[in-house]
Amino acid sequence: MKAIAIDGPAGAGKSTIAKAIAKKIGFIYVDTGALYRAVGLYVSRNDVNTTDKERIQPMLKNIQVELKYVDGTQRVFLNGEDVSEAIRVPEMSMHASNVSAIPCVREFLFDLQRNITKVNDVIMDGRDIGTVVLPNADVKIFLTASPEVRAKRRYDEHMEKGQTVDFDKLLEEIKQRDYNDSHREIAPLKQAEDAILVDTSDNSLEQSIELLSNIILKQIKIS
Ligand code: DC
Repeated sequence: MKAIAIDGPAGAGKSTIAKAIAKKIGFIYVDTGALYRAVGLYVSRNDVNTTDKERIQPMLKNIQVELKYVDGTQRVFLNGEDVSEAIRVPEMSMHASNVSAIPCVREFLFDLQRNITKVNDVIMDGRDIGTVVLPNADVKIFLTASPEVRAKRRYDEHMEKGQTVDFDKLLEEIKQRDYNDSHREIAPLKQAEDAILVDTSDNSLEQSIELLSNIILKQIKIS
């Protein structure tokens, strides 16, 4: 099985680019942020603060998170309920970031991420894929862009879905999440030593897809 790891901060284009390339080369696209979002959703629905380690740990035994693929598209299930849309509301980003800093939550989601790669060729995106989850990935890419460009992309995404958001608030939140995700003690967001750094600030989406496809196809022999 082959594995491609794409890490980077929110809004760098990981999911859109990875999805397009996965389709092109017949791999499945695994969005690991969705797993942390599902845990964040469960905790927030139960009116527990998403930073409350002590209360979250015993809750994990009541949570079942599953990924299913319908026509090649990932759907996320929380205790049997399809929460693929519910996890995308703006406030879930910070909840996900909060729970992702708790070691038992990361441990809880680890096997699920690893196991998918045993039976599928994958492009997996997240924050710690190249460093922790798949240290032996065939290709590792660290995708980034300036905070302003990333906030603008998130802004456009929300507007397209009809979700009203404030740009300045989004930019502030992106910077806060960057800080939280890269300064936490466990599995922080950082470039793996053997990852290729790609900055997409000045690229159109098509250019980024082309660039990453070339990097990936050069490094991996697809039969
Ligand atoms: O990729 P995303 O924005 O959906 O991720 C939401 C949060 O989940 C992100 O702020 C940090 C966390 N996360 C993580 O810690 N490790 C991953 N592999 C993926 C996401």
